[in-house]
Amino acid sequence: MKKKNNKKIIYKTKDKSELIREELGINYFTEKETPTIVIPKSKYPKTTIYNDIDLNNWKDYGDIITDSLWLLGARDKSGAHSGEYHGNFVPQIPHQAILRYTKKNEIVLDTFLGSGTTLIECKQLGRNGIGIELLPNMVKRAKELILQEQNPFKVKTDIIEGDNTIPETVENVKKILKENYESDTVQLIIMHPPYHDIIKFSDNSNDLCNTKTTEEFLDKFSQVVKNTYSLLDEKRFLVLVIGDKYSQSEWVPLSFYTMQKVLENGYKLKSIVIKNISGNRAKRNAEQLWRRRALGGGFYIFKHEYIMFFQKR
Ligand SMILES: C[S@@+](CC[C@H](N)C(=O)[O-])C[C@H]1O[C@@H](n2cnc3c(N)ncnc32)[C@H](O)[C@@H]1O
Repeated sequence: MKKKNNKKIIYKTKDKSELIREELGINYFTEKETPTIVIPKSKYPKTTIYNDIDLNNWKDYGDIITDSLWLLGARDKSGAHSGEYHGNFVPQIPHQAILRYTKKNEIVLDTFLGSGTTLIECKQLGRNGIGIELLPNMVKRAKELILQEQNPFKVKTDIIEGDNTIPETVENVKKILKENYESDTVQLIIMHPPYHDIIKFSDNSNDLCNTKTTEEFLDKFSQVVKNTYSLLDEKRFLVLVIGDKYSQSEWVPLSFYTMQKVLENGYKLKSIVIKNISGNRAKRNAEQLWRRRALGGGFYIFKHEYIMFFQKR
């Protein structure tokens, strides 16, 4: 019998803090592991138009998060996933989004591909994936990592090197869609843009991290949403992953500003999820320093970022 590649997030053995979370009704998801349960196929599956979740067996999907607070455990390091790219997201994010908002063999577009986390996850979950990335060295690295991942479902992945704010790049996506998938559209868009200038990804003037002001950053981001709108099927989802920044003694809510840009461009808001940011050992000393600054400066230290879910009207 063919071995299933499904993965499952399992609850780890409970410690004191987890018991407290449980009492508060907050789930804590640890890293993904091989599934212990294989969901039986029902004779007449009851699914929505945008995923394969069989509502007849809804109690069996314990690994799919439905709460708006995501306390994720360690980064998933299965397969080719690695945390090497400073600024990549944890694979659990595209994992959850893909399971919730696509069916097997559909097409996911990631407009800020970076090191290719989304496309690696696509291969693991049996979805086709297209990524756009500006930086040639990142495109090269993403290709290497994606190639390292096994392809049990025989899906396709494509990377387009280019600036996602210009129409030519979208034309290239259209060309790939036609040639490789005989399609004009994708079924899910994931956007994980730079959080403005928090991380300097490059000196490239087209890199959103090099925009001079918040307004310019938002204009360019808005352009990406506009450019890709026609690529997404009706009623399908766009997922935005973003955090806020702190500048000149002010909290700059990039998340809510970018959310507004998506809403202005033909989408409705379905959910705002708050996800924990957990520091590593190396950051612990810096954390003490930040705590001192926070106490003196009258602000709170970022411990969360946002995952926003929109549906095309
Ligand atoms: C936050 S990172 C995405 C990381 C990705 N989710 C991952 O897991 O590796 C943002 C990426 O957007 C890319 N980027 C910035 N401006 C861009 C533009 N105008 N067009 C295409 N990519 C761009 C950066 O080079 C960077 O790799």
